Amino acid sequence: MNVLLTGGAGYIGSHTYLALIVYGLKPVILDDFSNSSPTVLERLELISHKPVVCELGNVADLPFVEAVIQRHKIQAVIHFAGSKAVGESVALPLRYYDNNVVGMTRLLQAMEKTGCRTLVFSSSATVYGDPAKVPITEIFPRSHTNPYGHTKLVIEDMLYALQAADSSWKMAVLRYFNPVGAHPSGLIGEDPQGPPNNLMPYIAQVAVQQRPILNVYGNDYPTPDGTGVRDYIHVQDLAQGHIAALQALTSHGILTVNLGTGRGYSVLEVVKAFERASGKSVPYQFMPRRAGDVAQCYASTALAKQLLGWEAQLDLDSMCADAWRWQKGSGNVSGSAW
Ligand code: UD1
Repeated sequence: MNVLLTGGAGYIGSHTYLALIVYGLKPVILDDFSNSSPTVLERLELISHKPVVCELGNVADLPFVEAVIQRHKIQAVIHFAGSKAVGESVALPLRYYDNNVVGMTRLLQAMEKTGCRTLVFSSSATVYGDPAKVPITEIFPRSHTNPYGHTKLVIEDMLYALQAADSSWKMAVLRYFNPVGAHPSGLIGEDPQGPPNNLMPYIAQVAVQQRPILNVYGNDYPTPDGTGVRDYIHVQDLAQGHIAALQALTSHGILTVNLGTGRGYSVLEVVKAFERASGKSVPYQFMPRRAGDVAQCYASTALAKQLLGWEAQLDLDSMCADAWRWQKGSGNVSGSAW
């Protein structure tokens, strides 16, 4: 099966690329490198021992995407390309609606025109807003607190509307919890531009002394140690979830599932696990809560198990060990001398 990966050079896209190869599928990357580096392609070749097929361009360029789908006889699309920084989305909302919602619309139009009707979409646990309780099941009410979250919600609704209008579409909406870790080779991983917004990459940069100290946002949450609790999932497990979703679409029209481990860890538990994995100390200081953060967020994994036959395998220690291998090796694709 030929599978188009929009944003395939990005963090989750590149790990999914390798999982597809191992599974014997034929991924084609479409990326404009607006938030990734072409160096990733060389590394994918190094790991997979196969030439990478990559089309340089934007997902909203309708004629281009149509031509790509036809040229490569694409049978399914996994749509990763999109913007994901919460703070930036508040400052630049139009960029988010354009990149995410318009980008998705154009991609769907290109798929419709070319007769490619199988889509896996990267949604996020952000659609649950501040959940009333945990674990979170897929039927919890959705809400949003920022434009980024709103784009995910709007796109989910668009996909359901389209599938209701034309049942030949097959679509999987995957709500990622907190993807972390890296490929065990240490050659690809998360490569944030500027100071990381997310916890694990920030901890990793403190561990290599690229940053002096971790700010822990809030120690007065109603959690066991007062710090925020999240469902961290290894990016390798997440990549497998996409394959399971493609398989499940042979017998489903549209489905929405959480991709998480079902287990929550506090900020301080992650700090301790990272210190164990790296042998480095990670100094931290408590700061006020970060606006928009919730106390606890972790998934119910039952539906993913039932519909996809998938569940996460890798624990927090593996996530930290792999994130550390990546960080201490090249660490940063765009800026490295590798
Ligand atoms: C964040 C986004 C969310 C997005 C998700 C995926 C916000 C408010 N939320 O989720 O919309 O879907 O990333 O990438 O940005 N923390 C610290 N210090 C730090 C960084 C984080 O203490 O320097 C804490 C946070 O307060 C939180 C936990 O670590 O308790 C995880 O934070 P983060 O990695 O940013 O993920 P989310 O907040 O879950």
